[in-house]
Amino acid sequence: METTAEGSMIPMRVVGKTCIARDVFLFELAHRDGAHLPAFSGGAHVTVLTPNGLTRRYSLCNDPAHMDRYLLAVKREHQGQGGSASMIDQVQCGDELLTSAPRNDFSLDPQAASHLLIAGGIGITPLVSMLRELQARGADFKLIYLTRDPECTAFLEELQAPELADRVVLHHDHGDLSRALDLSPWLANPREGLHLYCCGPRGLMQSVHERTRHWPSATVHFEDFGGTVPPQTTQDGPFTVKLARSGRIVAVPAGISILEALRRENIPVPSSCESGTCGTCRTGLLAGVAEHRDYVLGEDEQASEIMICVSRAVSPQLELDL
Ligand code: FES
Repeated sequence: METTAEGSMIPMRVVGKTCIARDVFLFELAHRDGAHLPAFSGGAHVTVLTPNGLTRRYSLCNDPAHMDRYLLAVKREHQGQGGSASMIDQVQCGDELLTSAPRNDFSLDPQAASHLLIAGGIGITPLVSMLRELQARGADFKLIYLTRDPECTAFLEELQAPELADRVVLHHDHGDLSRALDLSPWLANPREGLHLYCCGPRGLMQSVHERTRHWPSATVHFEDFGGTVPPQTTQDGPFTVKLARSGRIVAVPAGISILEALRRENIPVPSSCESGTCGTCRTGLLAGVAEHRDYVLGEDEQASEIMICVSRAVSPQLELDL
């Protein structure tokens, strides 16, 4: 391990780099010194220090049983800050990269009897390692994978393997909303023991979130890496939060999350994904009206709880159980 501003990092060597779809490259990383890598489970990600000095989270795409390498699929983000472009344009085979140890905010629920995976675009990355884990376990699962066209579909060939024919639904809408797949057959009537895992563009995750409100909330899981959650903007407006246990009032400026405002006041609150998907920052809401922007809370929970990493206030003040 090496210690950087990002904490302990693992020195890795790039042993493979392949274009697997339009604008998507698969990087194969091995420990620089040939050591085994920390274990991970399906849905895990690592943080990578990119050549241009940014940190980016990438899901691990390989079978978790493989301890000698990590596979990351990186899509060039044309609207991003250059982290993905720097990976694709500057990292070559033989180069060294630093990554964190794996972390998983999106793991398979051990209680689940069956699994429905829904991926949109590059959102396939955490789901493909889940699929490999489920396949190895002989578990019951189905993957629905939505992309624009075959050329931009990562992992296309392996997902078309004959043994997955009745497990994988691939659908291309060719950029035409009228050709979008109707998810109703899978979402309308949740079976007991079925868990759903969704990762993809915000529109897809919102749609799945809306259409699974009648599912038990603990059975629906989302993953997001920040790019698809709307950033908190100055148009969001300022408000205050009152901390019920101390009576303290904290100002939440425009463009700053409640979580960040509390952090700046040295008030620690547990957090993980910071994109409204993992549930770690769940906080009691005692008064005020929130604008919920997360993918965790069910309608029945929204009056009394809030995810403070993404959600904001409609009323001038929220009172939190902190
Ligand atoms: S930190 Fe994950 S939902 Fe807020």
